[in-house]
Amino acid sequence: LDNGLAKTPPMGWLSWERFRCNTDCVNDPDNCISEKLFQTMTDLVVADGYATAGYEYINIDDCWLEKHRGHDGKLLADHQRFPNGIRALSDYIHSRGLKFGIYEDYGNFTCAGYPGIIGYEQEDAFQFAEWNVDYVKLDGCYSLPHEMDLGYSKFGKLLNSTGKAMVYSCSWPVYQIYAGIQPNFSAVKTYCNLWRNFDDIQDSWTSVENIIDYYGNNQDLIAPNAGPGHWNDPDMLIIGNFGLSYEQAKTQFAIWSILAAPLLMSVDLRTIRPQFKRILQNRKIIAVDQDPLGIQGRRIYKHKGIEIWSKPIGPLYNNFYSYAIAFINRRSDGTPSDISVTLKELGLIHFYGYRVEDLYENVDYGVLYPNTKIKVKVNPSGVVMLKGEVQLPNEM
Ligand code: DGJ
Repeated sequence: LDNGLAKTPPMGWLSWERFRCNTDCVNDPDNCISEKLFQTMTDLVVADGYATAGYEYINIDDCWLEKHRGHDGKLLADHQRFPNGIRALSDYIHSRGLKFGIYEDYGNFTCAGYPGIIGYEQEDAFQFAEWNVDYVKLDGCYSLPHEMDLGYSKFGKLLNSTGKAMVYSCSWPVYQIYAGIQPNFSAVKTYCNLWRNFDDIQDSWTSVENIIDYYGNNQDLIAPNAGPGHWNDPDMLIIGNFGLSYEQAKTQFAIWSILAAPLLMSVDLRTIRPQFKRILQNRKIIAVDQDPLGIQGRRIYKHKGIEIWSKPIGPLYNNFYSYAIAFINRRSDGTPSDISVTLKELGLIHFYGYRVEDLYENVDYGVLYPNTKIKVKVNPSGVVMLKGEVQLPNEM
């Protein structure tokens, strides 16, 4: 979508995977979906360095609404959990220098059974603008997938017509794929800034592996649709929760950056362990994700549990890209695996060479040439991530 937004993949915090539809503020006041939770996360995104690392949006997901609209048809935030209303929360987030995202559903109800937008598209688009919303995620439960081409594009146009620029996140393709419909991706990327293609992420390594496989197995169809202003969304980062080891968390972050994925953390920032925070704030890997060329990377090798993923990035010299390369080890033999490969085999063929560095370990390999063989040791379910920066002649 060419609305001037999401020129690089959006970064921020989103409530769903970690906090779900917890509406029980009586028994669980610190973890329920409430204005307090979003204010707390806003404060931590700023205070703990996430904002300076690039995380920008604070996004509400499902379960923020009352069960019914007001008599005038307007959306109402749950009055007990959001006692000051949505505009006040939006102002709070903006006053801290961040941006505010909201969730709705194209159908009759949200997935958790709260009112959807059907029949109120125009009112809701203008309501979001009035609340100074910067980002809208539009889910697709309780709606008809074959009507989505019309419905999602119509709502996108309505958002634009408000004059308030809002990032538009669509679930349109994933519901169509589930219904056996081949999505019209040229329409999807015209109307949406990002979109989901596959299953919801859950707090487990199996879930992350399934997503990695989906994006690898379907990359010919999916990868070309990504670019500045329009991104595939493999779903939230679950780093720092319960289901991923340290190695696995590094792998999720590496592959998401190769995929030019939106980086939406869904984690309790009050209790996250320092080593997971360091992953989420790894500037070099964030820069891979946020590379201005916006090219989605691909799986270039897969054999016996070893995979190599590669993303072309800047700087670009004489049509030769620089690259981010992730080596992952999904073997089940439980021991670190050695991978040896020449730069040439990775597609790094420019004869001026590439400055190669490790993006997690701060190891600089110096300038290597296409015939140089590099050897990396990859831990079980872990990753080694390198960057090869193409060299200019005067840097030889
Ligand atoms: C399905 C979406 O894919 C999830 O990300 C989340 O928004 C839930 N619905 C909320 O009900």
